Amino acid sequence: MTEYPLPDRKPARPFFSSGPCAKPPGYSPDKLATESLGRSHRAKIGKTRLQYCIDLMREMLQLPDTHRIGIVPGSDTGAFEMAMWTMIDARGVTTLAWESFGEGWVTDVVKQLGVEATVMRADYGQIPDLDKVDWDDDVIFTWNGTTSGVRVPDAEWIPADRRGLSFCDATSAVFAYDIPWDKIDVATFSWQKVLGGEGGHGVLILGPRAVERLETYTPARPLPKVFRLVSKGKLSEGIFKGETINTPSMLAVEDAIWALEWAKGIGGLKGLQARSNANAHALDKIVAERDWLGHLAVDHGIRSKTSVCLTVEGADADFIKAFAGLLEKQGAAYDIAGYRDAPPGLRIWCGATVDTTDIEALGPWLDWAFAETKASLATA
Ligand SMILES: Cc1ncc(COP(=O)(O)O)c(C=O)c1O
Repeated sequence: MTEYPLPDRKPARPFFSSGPCAKPPGYSPDKLATESLGRSHRAKIGKTRLQYCIDLMREMLQLPDTHRIGIVPGSDTGAFEMAMWTMIDARGVTTLAWESFGEGWVTDVVKQLGVEATVMRADYGQIPDLDKVDWDDDVIFTWNGTTSGVRVPDAEWIPADRRGLSFCDATSAVFAYDIPWDKIDVATFSWQKVLGGEGGHGVLILGPRAVERLETYTPARPLPKVFRLVSKGKLSEGIFKGETINTPSMLAVEDAIWALEWAKGIGGLKGLQARSNANAHALDKIVAERDWLGHLAVDHGIRSKTSVCLTVEGADADFIKAFAGLLEKQGAAYDIAGYRDAPPGLRIWCGATVDTTDIEALGPWLDWAFAETKASLATA
C-alpha cells in the first residue's frame, strides 16, 4: 500500500529506456509510409527508399563524402562484428573497455577471433588513460558506454597521422555528439538508440582507410555471407547504395525514415543535440538537488548526455529492482534500472526523442519511489 502521496504530474511519455529508446514525439505507426512493404527490396521502390534512408542519415550526421554509409544486418552488434571480422588482425590491436559493451568487444577480439590484443580497462564510472593508446595499433572503442554513462571526452586523443584504424562503436553517441569524421575509420550504430527507431539493422560507416584495408587484407578465417563486404578484391559498393546483403525489414527502414524526417524538421544534428543537452541538463539539476542521488561518472567531462547512469544512496540490486518496479507500476517511468552487469543504480535515457518536460517531471517520482522503497524494504 502506498504510504507516501503520489506526485501530481506524471511524465506524459514515461519512456526512459536506453534501448530501444523512446519513439520521437508525435510518432505513430500509422504515419509510416507503407508503399514499399510487400514488395521486393530490390524493386525500384525498395531501393529508392533504402537510398533515401541512407541519404537522410548522411545529411543528419553531417557525414562527409569521404565516408561511405550502409545498412547491414544484426543491429549495432552485427555492424561492429562485421567490421572486426573483416578487418582485424592485419596489425596490432588495442581494445578499450570501461563497461559492458566495450568488454563484449574485448571478448570478441581475444576469445572469438583469438587475436593477441592490448586491453586497456577502467572500472564503471571511469575511463582508461586515452593519451596512453598506441596508434600503431588498430584501436577498438565505444564512444558512449551505455551501461556506465561514461563517454570519451572528444576525439583529440585520436591522432590525424595514426597508422592503425579507429573502430568506433558509436551507437548511443551518433546524433548526440559532434563526431569529427576524419578521426573515425569505422563507426557503427543502430536506429534503436538516439533516433528512437527499431533494432534489427545496423549502420556501417567506413572511411577511406577502412576501405583500403578491406581491399588489401584478406583475413585467414571464414566469413559468413552476412559479413562479406568485398567481392573479387573490391568493396561491394552496392551495400552503400541500398543494395543490402540480404533482405532488410522495410518496415524498420520506413520507421527510421520517419525518425530521420522528424530529426530534419527539428533542425537536424544541432536540433537533436540541443534536445539531448537539455534533457541531460534537466536530469543533472534533479541529481544536484538530492543528496541521495549521484552520477556514476563523477567527472563531468566524460559523463554521457544520452545514457545517464546514477547512483542511489544505500541501494543494492534488490532495492533498485523494487524502486524501478514501483515506477513502472505507476506508469511514471519505464526501464530505468541500471544494466544488469553495472553496479546497482539507475539509468535514464536523455537522448533526443525524450521530452525535457518528462525528465523534469521525473524528480518528484524518484523521491516518491525512494521513500516507498526504503519503507517497504524496512518492513519486509
Ligand atoms: C554501446 C553499445 N554497443 C552495442 C550495443 C548493442 O546494440 P544492438 O543491440 O543494437 O546490437 C548497445 C546496446 O545497448 C550499446 O549500448
